[in-house]
Amino acid sequence: MKIHLVVGARPNFMKLMPVYNNIKKECPDWETIIVHTGQHYDYEMSQVFFEVLNLPEPDVFLDVRSGTHGEQTARALERLEKLFIKENPDLVMVFGDVNSTIAASLAAVKLGIKIAHVEAGLRSFDWSMPEEINRMLTDRVSHFLFVTEKAGIENLKREGVEENRIYFVGNTMIDTLITILPHADISILNEFGLKENNYILVTLHRPSNVDRKEPLKKILDILNQLSAHLPVVFPIHPRTEKRIKEFNIDTGRITIIEPQNYRKFLALERFSKLVITDSGGIQEETTFLKKPCITVRPNTERPVTEEMGTNVVLRDKSIEHLLELSMKAINDEWKEGEIPPLWDGKAGKRITESLKGTEV
Ligand code: UD1
Repeated sequence: MKIHLVVGARPNFMKLMPVYNNIKKECPDWETIIVHTGQHYDYEMSQVFFEVLNLPEPDVFLDVRSGTHGEQTARALERLEKLFIKENPDLVMVFGDVNSTIAASLAAVKLGIKIAHVEAGLRSFDWSMPEEINRMLTDRVSHFLFVTEKAGIENLKREGVEENRIYFVGNTMIDTLITILPHADISILNEFGLKENNYILVTLHRPSNVDRKEPLKKILDILNQLSAHLPVVFPIHPRTEKRIKEFNIDTGRITIIEPQNYRKFLALERFSKLVITDSGGIQEETTFLKKPCITVRPNTERPVTEEMGTNVVLRDKSIEHLLELSMKAINDEWKEGEIPPLWDGKAGKRITESLKGTEV
């Protein structure tokens, strides 16, 4: 079997690793081709992850880079279609919900190539999020739907997907976390003078939080207030960095640092007191690590992180509520949390087994 594994943006690389490694191990006669669209292209957003995760260099790099959603998706679609026509894979595997995911799915489905979607079925029910559009449409045209949490199964069934195409396999991002955690690079704490359980880790990059001055300024003001209690360390996404400059916002005492590689970021998460984020994957990682997490969004597509895990989603509460909630975490008044079913480091293996057992 010839499989094209298509990735493009930072969170895709962590999801790729366990699937790629398992296929290599269990099915050495399958031809696996890593295709990187180049949606993320900065060294610290892309290449460093291949190095730290010990992944081989991508076999194909499409150099799509940034642009409007239309431009970025269209460039990826055009280049992927050419590649699929030339290479004629039996299966295209896509990950998560980024623009590269939907571009690969559209290119593949129209060529009659089967698609496997890793992280299928998640729904925020918020059509203003580009990721929601990407994952809904990707699921609609995928043949194999690999689901991370039970809500995903329900969502897909409700949308009319046949049950025999839905595979509850667990979470590949957690596979990677379990593999890399023993190698987390704690030198990062010294680098920024941080002490274990004595700082707040922040990540923010959602357009709804950072693309307009008012919400971004409000959030940064609160982070600044929190830094009177504990150091606030903020590895900054290029999108957010650009906006802070453009809006000329003073970041006060917040420690803004470069985006970190996975081993360093994992150490930052593991030893933080509290994580404040608007990311998808970080809600899951903090649940696994049992770290208090506040998600600065009106919704989550990963409800198990709230129902079982340590995540609290801000929802429709005003941003001022972030301060009060954070103080609860600082004062150790937080829920304990449990690890969701099948988040056990074996999702990559289950995906390989499911593919082995079916005709592609
Ligand atoms: C994308 C994903 C989002 C994911 C995030 C993780 C979509 C729709 N969004 O958002 O789901 O959570 O990646 O990081 O696919 N940029 C750089 N260097 C890079 C990459 C981007 O400077 O290596 C800049 C670009 O100029 C661009 C901006 O960051 O304007 C945003 O990049 P883009 O890929 O469009 O979306 P993200 O916000 O990264």
